[in-house]
Order: sequence, then structure tokens, then C-alpha cells
Amino acid sequence: MEPRSNNRRLVLFPLPLQGHINPMLQLANILYTKGFKITIIHTNFNSPNPSNYPQFTFKSISDGLSKSKDKSLNLETSNHVINFMNKSCIDPFAACLAKLLEVEPVACLISDALWHFTRSVADDLNLKRIVLRTSSMSCIPLYAALVLGEKNYYKTTIKEELALMTEMDIEKIYKGGLEKEKAELICNMINETKAASGIIFNTFKELEEPAFLAISQVLRIPSFAIGPFHTYFPASPSSLLDRQPVSSVVYVSFGSIAQMSEAEFTNMAWGLANSKQRFLWVVRPGSVTGSQWLELLPKGFAEEVGERGCIVKWAPQQEVLAHQAIGCFWTHNGWNSTLESICEGVPMICSPCSYDQPINARYVTDIWKIGVMLDNMEETGKTIKRVIMGKEGSEMRQRSKCLQEKVNQSLQKDGSACQSLDNLVDCILSF
Ligand code: UDX
Repeated sequence: MEPRSNNRRLVLFPLPLQGHINPMLQLANILYTKGFKITIIHTNFNSPNPSNYPQFTFKSISDGLSKSKDKSLNLETSNHVINFMNKSCIDPFAACLAKLLEVEPVACLISDALWHFTRSVADDLNLKRIVLRTSSMSCIPLYAALVLGEKNYYKTTIKEELALMTEMDIEKIYKGGLEKEKAELICNMINETKAASGIIFNTFKELEEPAFLAISQVLRIPSFAIGPFHTYFPASPSSLLDRQPVSSVVYVSFGSIAQMSEAEFTNMAWGLANSKQRFLWVVRPGSVTGSQWLELLPKGFAEEVGERGCIVKWAPQQEVLAHQAIGCFWTHNGWNSTLESICEGVPMICSPCSYDQPINARYVTDIWKIGVMLDNMEETGKTIKRVIMGKEGSEMRQRSKCLQEKVNQSLQKDGSACQSLDNLVDCILSF
């Protein structure tokens, strides 16, 4: 059934990385069910498939990537790519938005917080702008403190979380040696977010209480924690796993951009084999340096594993995690994966690679205590057994189920996420 339209149009502008596109399109769907008409402006790079969303209008803009002669613009340097596009998209985005405004009024622009250039474009067109931050809420004050050294941001509530971050975590946040670019991006994101009319988070209050206070001190704008977004459209468990015993399978996936070396890949493979547990492993084609897909799997691996393991190019992750056969999730702790695991009550083995992932992993292991950190790949087999079979694992599973219960409560009519969504809708309608 079509939702009853409130006749107001929203323009949404996702950052073209899978971990950012997915939550923006989920948000679009949530707002569509609240009666808004939706236009998505997207770059040519990584453009979504409009035929999957017949309820939305799509407009594409040029991002300058294909014409650029800069060879260093690739996904391994995504900070560099994002900084580049924040310049190359200014004119095409402004022209596209101005054209839309000629046809029809727009209630507000919702852009990814990392699209910091949109602030000046929206100001020039006299258009309200709300940003979507696709990472955790805690990530902003922690980034501000760690990357920008802004001490004021963590004087109060976030201090304890900050103390948990190890040197290795901080090293990983900076992985790729692009410190200057990362600092520039985060600095611009925070400054331009402060000028927005609000910020939306894919999280819920009960999960990150201390961050709520810190965020209002850091940003001083209305914040809306209306997530986890994907739970508004529940997935049914995948039949892929129906023949496996309850809580017996390790699901392994490192998201949509993480790359690994041959040595890391080989270690992962032997770790899974030596654990003697069942597993479903997503290996994205091209994600192992120097190979197309599985050419670098070590000799003897297939024989050792037999039918116990299955390797795929991509999996319907939410459905997989929702299946009772899944015993734990070995993850890089991208925020979407972390939330999806929490929502299904699945404990995690954490191997963060970069970006916000070390922060998310610290929360999982040290604050929510629903996972363990795996720094040394040689410990893989032992760690998997600890989580799948040990007492520690079942305690983590219990705590994870409690968090899952909190998610469900927050989505009820009087729950925090549901109320926050109502506040967001009221805020937009008041523009
Ligand atoms: C990126 C950053 O790496 C991450 O740190 C940040 O929080 C968001 O942007 P990504 O690395 O892709 O994201 O990880 P993640 O946030 O976990 O998003 C991956 C998404 O792809 C998830 O929604 C997951 O369900 C989906 N996915 C992944 C699949 O559906 N199938 C797969 O096989 C793998």
C-alpha cells in the first residue's frame, strides 16, 4: 500500500560507498513510509540501481573520477577519493539541485555527513540541510579527540571510552598513511555538520548513552537516533543454512571495501580450517591483493575443510545473521555489520581494519562485551572455539540477546528510536 503523501519532497545524497549507500537508501525508505516524496541524487561512481527502488526519483551527477588522471584515486585510498569528490561534485550537484528547485519546492536536503561541501551549496540555494552520519554516534567525539586532538570534546562523558583505545587501534584508524587527508576530512565533516539543521544517526539511544551527551556538546544541533535502520524492514532468515545445527556456523565477512594481503588471506584460511568448525566465508572478488578471487587459497585447504566450509562472493548478510545456525560473526566491524550483528544477538570476533572500525570493535569487546578482539591471526582457531563452544561465548551470546531485546524495545511505539523518528518528521515538516 502507498503511504499517504504529505506532499513534501526530500532530496537525499548518499556518499558512493556501499557502507554509506545502504543506510541512506534505508533512510529514504523509512521517510517514504512517513509520506515524503523522495529524490536521490547520486554520483556516476557506484550508482545505485533505480529499478530496485521504483518509488524514488533518481538523478545522476558527474563526479569527475573517470576523467581524472590521478592514479591514486582508488578504493584503497577512500579518504583521498572522498576529498577529491567533495571538490569535483560542487558544480554538478549545485546545478542538479537548482534544476529540481525550479520544478518543485524541496523541504530539505539530507546528505551524508562526509559530503561537507553540500553545506555551502544548500546555503546558496536557501535550502535546509540535515546530515546523515552512517557510523556510530560515539565515533564523532572519539574522532574529534583522537584525530583532531580536540580535548574539550571528551572532557566529560566520553573520557572512559577514549582510555580504552590502544596504540594499535589508533594506528589502524590511520592505516594507509594518509593522516593529513583523514584529518582534513574529519575536520570538515565536523565543522560543516555544526552548521546543519540536524543530524541523523543509524543507532539507538540505549546502545550509546554516553555519546548522546558528548554529541550535544560537540555539535549543538538536534540529533535523531532513529536506527537501526534495517530493522524497519525485517529480513527473513536465509534457507542457505537450514541444514546446520543451532549456533554452529561462523559467518565471516569483511564488508565492501576492506582489502587484504596474500599472507592475511592464507592465515584466515588456515585459522578457519584449524578451528574445525563450520563456516560461511564471504570473499569479495578482488579483495585479496594479487588475485581475482580464490586462486591464493592454500594447497590442502579444500581437502582439510571438506563440506564443513562454504566460500561465496557475496551473502545476504542480514538474512544470514538472522539464521539460528549462526554461532558467531568474524567481522571487520564496519558500523552496518556491527549493528546487524547486535540486532540478531550474534557475538563477534573482531578484526578491525581501518576507519571507524577499531572504535566499533572496542565498544563490542570492552563496553558491550559481546565479542573478542582477534589481533593475532595465529590465534584464530582457538578464538573461534572460545566463542562458538566456550562458556565465555555463551555469556557473550546472552549479553548480545539482551542488546537485541533493547533494540526491539527502542522500535516500539514509545521506544526511543520510534520517538526520535517522529521528532525528525516533525522537524522536517516545520521547515
Ligand atoms: C564502510 C566502512 O568500512 C565502515 O567502517 C563504515 O562504518 C561504513 O562504511 P563497509 O566496510 O562496507 O563500510 O562495512 P559495513 O559498514 O559493515 O557495511 C557493509 C554492508 O554490506 C552491510 O550492510 C552488510 O550487510 C552488506 N554485506 C556485506 C552484504 O550484504 N553481503 C556481504 O556479503 C557483505
